[in-house]
Amino acid sequence: VENGVNVSFRVNSINKKVLIDSRMTLLDTLRERLELTGSKKGCDHGQCGACTVIVDGNRVLSCLTLAASCEGKSVITIEGLAKDNELNPMQDAFLKHDGFQCGYCTPGQICSAVALMKEAKEGQASYLTQNIRNQQGSIILSDEEIAERMSGNICRCGAYPNIVAAIKEAQTGKDIEQT
Ligand code: FES
Ligand code: FES
Repeated sequence: VENGVNVSFRVNSINKKVLIDSRMTLLDTLRERLELTGSKKGCDHGQCGACTVIVDGNRVLSCLTLAASCEGKSVITIEGLAKDNELNPMQDAFLKHDGFQCGYCTPGQICSAVALMKEAKEGQASYLTQNIRNQQGSIILSDEEIAERMSGNICRCGAYPNIVAAIKEAQTGKDIEQT
């Protein structure tokens, strides 16, 4: 491998070690070396969000992330969200609310939404102010805030109202667990 570098990291809770070109993106590494094609390549330029995955709990655009920068980290992709043959509650909510049409943006939307729940729970900066807290003290995001926080994930099919509805329901249900 030209400019080869060994990268060891966890992908969907499994230890992986790959020898890759040091310039290879996380997206290409997932799709082309680890056979995880759930993460999609829309623009490859950080503009669409289709490639969103979760790295150490935070959503990142894998097309703009060098795989080598993930050394020692934990990466969760859409393939890793379901556990023990049970969908993640966010996946259930997207199904229930038809939060997709063609589905191309959906893995990125769902990964983004799962990480968004964590951001909200931790009280990370709100863009808007109408959010309320539920009895457990978790922040309940308004539709506007959900739309704003999901604005990095483009949907060409325009499924936005249903995506917001899915996330709105998911945030009031049980915790959205990451692996
Ligand atoms: Fe990464 Fe579009 S493919 S943002
Ligand atoms: Fe088709 Fe979003 S469901 S791009």
